[in-house]
Amino acid sequence: MKKTILVTGGAGYIGAHTVAELIAQNYDVVIVDNLSVCDETLLLGIELLTKTKPSFYPIDCNDYKSLQNVFKLHNIDAVIHFAAFKAVGESTQKPLVYHYNNVGSLITLLRVMEEFNVKDFIFSSSCTVYGQPDTIPVTEDAPIKKAESPYGATKQICEQIIKDVTSQNVKAISLRYFNPIGAHPSAELGELPIGTPNNLVPFITQTAAGVRQQLTVFGTDYPTRDGSCIRDYIHVVDLAKAHVAALAYLLEQSSSTFLDIFNVGTGEGKTVLEVIEAFERANQITLTYTKGPRRPGDVIQVYADTTYISKKLNWKPEYTLEDALQHAWQWEKKIRKR
Ligand code: UD1
Repeated sequence: MKKTILVTGGAGYIGAHTVAELIAQNYDVVIVDNLSVCDETLLLGIELLTKTKPSFYPIDCNDYKSLQNVFKLHNIDAVIHFAAFKAVGESTQKPLVYHYNNVGSLITLLRVMEEFNVKDFIFSSSCTVYGQPDTIPVTEDAPIKKAESPYGATKQICEQIIKDVTSQNVKAISLRYFNPIGAHPSAELGELPIGTPNNLVPFITQTAAGVRQQLTVFGTDYPTRDGSCIRDYIHVVDLAKAHVAALAYLLEQSSSTFLDIFNVGTGEGKTVLEVIEAFERANQITLTYTKGPRRPGDVIQVYADTTYISKKLNWKPEYTLEDALQHAWQWEKKIRKR
């Protein structure tokens, strides 16, 4: 029997890639997305890529009644919850909006799941919960540090809520993503930032496309090998596949309560300048960039210890940094043609 998976935020960047992988692995998918930070472009991409059109409901996860309706219409076996705001800077301006949206929607969703006796839940968390870790590569048992932003705080609070409910008949996995980048190799799916991108790779591809005049490297005086910050950049398709692996593992668990947490990264730290060089090498393009001041709130370096996820879920990334940057560039060129 095919399992039906509810994917909230399924019209967004990571959500849409995960929907495509779920369909490829023979799951039925139901998407809920309020389209507040995206449009229907990636829904169309899913259809073109998978030749499948999942049921889609343009509703807000804070809307209990509408969510109830989705659970009435579909026999949901498990939920993957992506729907959330993720702009670190914006969250400092609008903390209540972030808490209401990210924490509120989690609570609403868990309440509806309880009403319909749906127990399996995968949560989209972030390495931001570690802050600047004392030891790197960072393992899942590293202490949770004071949040650097309201966005980071919402991820920490959500993880705590999930921990609390998993003592009562809920099975959950939190996936702590490092820096998701890239696009589907088919160029049917990719990132569609609204306005000026905050994240590095969309800024790089928009600069290469001439949409932005030049890229600024935020800080070149950090105590790292070339002075710029270090992150762990994970291809979005590998990340999507990690969700499918986590889901299979979760559904296998026969106990009525369950909680596990996995880092999802490559295990390798790359500096901002190394990412720029890799982009130039992978795409034979010269980027215009300047060295600027540090961005407030940035941690100096963080990358994942991936021992646990590779052992438990038998998952490892398949794509290189160059692959991700090539795919991101193919996607950017495609959307510029539209
Ligand atoms: C942060 C969080 C991540 C979260 C994401 C959401 C941490 C460690 N990471 O990612 O968990 O999911 O926000 O958006 O808290 N950079 C430039 N120039 C630019 C843009 C970025 O130099 O124009 C640099 C940044 O200073 C940073 C690196 O590129 O060193 C990556 O930045 P970004 O893509 O914004 O992601 P994080 O801030 O690492």
